[in-house]
Amino acid sequence: MFESLQVLPQDPILGLMGQFLKDDNPNKVDLGVGVYKTPTGETPILASVKAAEARWMDAEATKSYIGGPGHVVYNSEMRKLALGESHPALLANRVASIQAPGGCGALRLGGELINRAKPGATIWMSNPTWANHVPLFGEAGLNIKEYPYYDRGTCSVAFADMIATLERDAQLGDVVLLHACCHNPCGADLNLEQWAQVADLCVEKGLVPFIDMAYQGFGVGLDEDAAGLRLMGERVSEMFLSVSCSKNFGLYRERIGLLLVIAEDSHKAEAAGSQLINIARGIWSMPPAHGAAIVATILESAELTEQWQGEVAEMRNRINGLRAQAVAKLNAVCSGADFGFIEKEFGMFSFLGITPEQVARLKDKFSIYMVGSSRINVAGLNDDNMNYFAESVAKVL
Ligand code: LMR
Repeated sequence: MFESLQVLPQDPILGLMGQFLKDDNPNKVDLGVGVYKTPTGETPILASVKAAEARWMDAEATKSYIGGPGHVVYNSEMRKLALGESHPALLANRVASIQAPGGCGALRLGGELINRAKPGATIWMSNPTWANHVPLFGEAGLNIKEYPYYDRGTCSVAFADMIATLERDAQLGDVVLLHACCHNPCGADLNLEQWAQVADLCVEKGLVPFIDMAYQGFGVGLDEDAAGLRLMGERVSEMFLSVSCSKNFGLYRERIGLLLVIAEDSHKAEAAGSQLINIARGIWSMPPAHGAAIVATILESAELTEQWQGEVAEMRNRINGLRAQAVAKLNAVCSGADFGFIEKEFGMFSFLGITPEQVARLKDKFSIYMVGSSRINVAGLNDDNMNYFAESVAKVL
């Protein structure tokens, strides 16, 4: 059977992790995979997570299944965290949600539900988007199209082109994938006014937004980063929202996420929810408990929530500080270049705006690792590697 299978190349993002580990250059710098790092280059477990884990371990009374929709408190707390406590869709019972293995699991579940409701439906993705969006939705059977999003000339959102393309080419019932905040890979986000315009367009053309929120709290703040999707959810009758707890709770390896859908009414929400449970049953049957228990324990405790919010703010402030430092250093050593746009972007990622050959030279000659598109994980910078990074970029330019 296996003779027909080819050896595949490594994943463009995850493959960098292995290459970096094998590199014995003591000056190596990892700006590849999107994982938060402290000033000393570690990705520690948050103190609020440690505390919640200890509480949970003590209180856990059974290892029996947690059921198809997942942890009940996790679901209810995550709905409030994403939509806000008094979102009209929540109050009207128009929301269904299901625990999923990471943001990827949520995206894939959403893709499968779309394909059940409308086989072969079209999903519009931003150009660029996170590389894994393509297989997650493509393998679910959806037809993928792109709308322009990032203008590499001005290093900002190509908003007029985005709207014009969707206005002209998107059809009734098409799905539009949007990044809630901290766009991966470019870091350039829509402002609230632009969110309102996209919402108007979705209503006018009957498009269904699918919002991917993997970095809530890493941009401006927990509520601010969700403001666009909340506004969208108030205006449209149907919406998908995938949420990841990998980054803001630092629970990368626990694989904990949520898929939430807003439907036209409570009956349709119930139908969508039951379909989601059925889809999950046919893939992984029932979700694991641990990650959800940690998040639920934090969010149902005022004290742990406050501690966690402080830790999210610390990560966000560090990233924003690094952005400012990187701009100052790069502009000082790369004569004629202006990297000021990096300071206007949000979250862990920005494009440096250099060529794939220059990216390859940074890796091969200087052991500085980033994705081929020149996406850097800003959180991988620190006081020890900042000068080396900026000077190496100057050398390859
Ligand atoms: C990234 O974009 O680097 C992260 O979201 C990790 C991944 O799975 O690609």
